[in-house]
Amino acid sequence: MGRIYAFLDDRLNLEPLVRAIADHPVPDHANPLKTPKALMYCFGGIAFMLILLQIVTGMFLMLYYVPSPDHAYASVTYIQDEVMFGSLVRAVHRVGASAAIVMVFLHMMRVYFTGAYKKPRELNWIAGIFLLVIVIGFGFSGYLLPWDQKAYWATTVGINLVATVPLVGDFLANVLRGGSEVGALTLVRFFVIHVMFLPALLLVFLAAHFFMIRRQGISQPL
Ligand code: HEM
Repeated sequence: MGRIYAFLDDRLNLEPLVRAIADHPVPDHANPLKTPKALMYCFGGIAFMLILLQIVTGMFLMLYYVPSPDHAYASVTYIQDEVMFGSLVRAVHRVGASAAIVMVFLHMMRVYFTGAYKKPRELNWIAGIFLLVIVIGFGFSGYLLPWDQKAYWATTVGINLVATVPLVGDFLANVLRGGSEVGALTLVRFFVIHVMFLPALLLVFLAAHFFMIRRQGISQPL
């Protein structure tokens, strides 16, 4: 490993970059090895780890999943019953989705109760709100994909809720459905939102979130 690093460093001058990233001591109040209650400062990092797990398990599910009304349910059953480790990967993806949302909420509560949203971190709080919406969007769009009765009706109810938004509600509901009823177009839209639009947005807002955390450092204890 050391020799590979030396080889790359020799050619790419990596050392200054690595030092800039690595030479950044965690303050004691945010280090659970020093103060056990500092574990709450790890909720954001744990949420990030869970999101990485979702990306990896999601990529494996996509190898077999087919986003069409004729095949979606059968492809999920196939993943569940026939594919090697399929039921495990699907279970991890399902449980991981809930865990990620819970963790993001816990992280947000930590930020709120330690007052870390105040100046100079207001912009990062706003980036966080976008991240929250994106993570919930993943949950909502993913729920339709198995295309069973529960998924169909949950999405019908969810889109009806969207339709109640003043002024733009009907428009948004039609865009999400791709028509007046939940059907083939809705399934394709939700799939593409789940695997393309939301990941792209997540990448942008996570990059902004982490950039601001590095620029501002972690907030001081109250
Ligand atoms: C995908 C979801 C999110 C991820 C992966 C994430 C990740 C992180 C990480 C790793 C930190 C460093 C400190 C810590 O872990 O507590 C952090 C800090 C912060 N996050 Fe998040 N976050 C997310 C969502 C949110 C949300 C929903 C909010 C609020 C609406 C938020 C607001 C903040 C703020 C203000 C800080 C700076 C805190 C400080 O300096 O003490 N984040 N985030």
